[in-house]
Amino acid sequence: MSVSVLTKQPPAVDEASRLAFHRVTPVIGAEVTGIDLTRPLDTETIAKLRRKLVKYKVLFFRDQPITDEDHVRFSQYFGGVTPAHPITNGRAGGPIQIMENVKSRIDARQSVFSDVEKQHHRAFHRPRPGRGWHTDITFVTNPSDISFLRNHQSPEFGGDTAWVNLEALYESFSPAFRERLDGLRAVHGRDDALRGFPPPPRDDGRSTGPYLSVHPLVRVHPESGKKGLFLSPGFIKYIEGYSERESDALLTFLTEELSARLDLQVRFRWTPNALAVWDNRATSHWGPIDGEHFTDERIVRRTTVGTSVPVGPDGFTSRQIAGERFFTLED
Ligand SMILES: [Fe+2]
Repeated sequence: MSVSVLTKQPPAVDEASRLAFHRVTPVIGAEVTGIDLTRPLDTETIAKLRRKLVKYKVLFFRDQPITDEDHVRFSQYFGGVTPAHPITNGRAGGPIQIMENVKSRIDARQSVFSDVEKQHHRAFHRPRPGRGWHTDITFVTNPSDISFLRNHQSPEFGGDTAWVNLEALYESFSPAFRERLDGLRAVHGRDDALRGFPPPPRDDGRSTGPYLSVHPLVRVHPESGKKGLFLSPGFIKYIEGYSERESDALLTFLTEELSARLDLQVRFRWTPNALAVWDNRATSHWGPIDGEHFTDERIVRRTTVGTSVPVGPDGFTSRQIAGERFFTLED
C-alpha cells in the first residue's frame, strides 16, 4: 500500500453503509453499531433494521443519548406507536407513548389487602414459578408487536434483562409434541385489583381491567411465517379445555423449559444510554432478573409498536374475553 493512499481522507459514507450487526449469541440477539439514533434515519437503514429484528429477535444499541422524542420517532419506523400501556398511564410530563418503570416506586407499592386477605390470595392463587418471564401485555387480544426499552438510570451492578427465543424453544421439542401444542389455546389475563393493587384511573378514562384473552399456544410469525411457542408465563393462566391439573402440569413443564434453556437466551447488561428493541412475536423476556437482590435505583423508559392479533398454525385468531383491545395512536 502506498503512502499516498494512507494519507487520503476516508470517503464520506452514509448511515446504511456504516451499519453493522454483531451477533451476541448464535440463537438470539445482535448489537448494532454505525448508527446515530438522535437523527432521522433513511429508508434503507430502516428496512435493514426491520429485517434484522425479525432475524435476531432482539437488537441492542449502546451510547445513544436520545430524548423521549427521539425514542418515539425511532419507534415509529417500525409501525404504529401505542400509548404507554393498556393499564398504566404514561410518564407524567412526557409524551403519552412513553411508559416509565421506576424500581423504587414499584418496591414501595402498598397492597390494599389485609394480612388475612394476603394469606387467602396466596392459598387460592398459587403463582407459577418463572412468572417473571413474559411477553409484553399478552393479557390483551392484540399485544404489542415490538418493544423499545431505554436505560434512563441503571444500578452500578445488577438490573440485567434476559430474552429467550420462543421459535428456537418450539423447534427444540419433538415433532410429536409440537403437533400436540399446535392445536392448543391458552387464556392470558391480568387483574391488578384482584392481587391487592388496584391501579389508579387512567388519564384517558379507559378501563384499567380486568383483562382476559385467549391466544393460540403456538403463534405463526406474521412476517417470517415461523412457528414459535407463544408462552408468556407472567400472564398465562390456563390451557383451554384442559383440567386444572393437566393445565398446571403442561404450563409448569413449558415454563421450566423456557427458564432452563440458557442456550436459547441472551442477557443484556444495561449501560448509560443503551436501548434494546425486541420482537414480542417471537420472544419472552424478564427484567430486572435480579430485582430482589439490589436496592439501587433503576429507571427504564419504554415504547411499544404494533397491535397485530396472534394467529395459530390452524388459523385460530386470538379473542378477547374481558377488557378492551389495545390500539395504536393512528387507529
Ligand atoms: Fe416486559
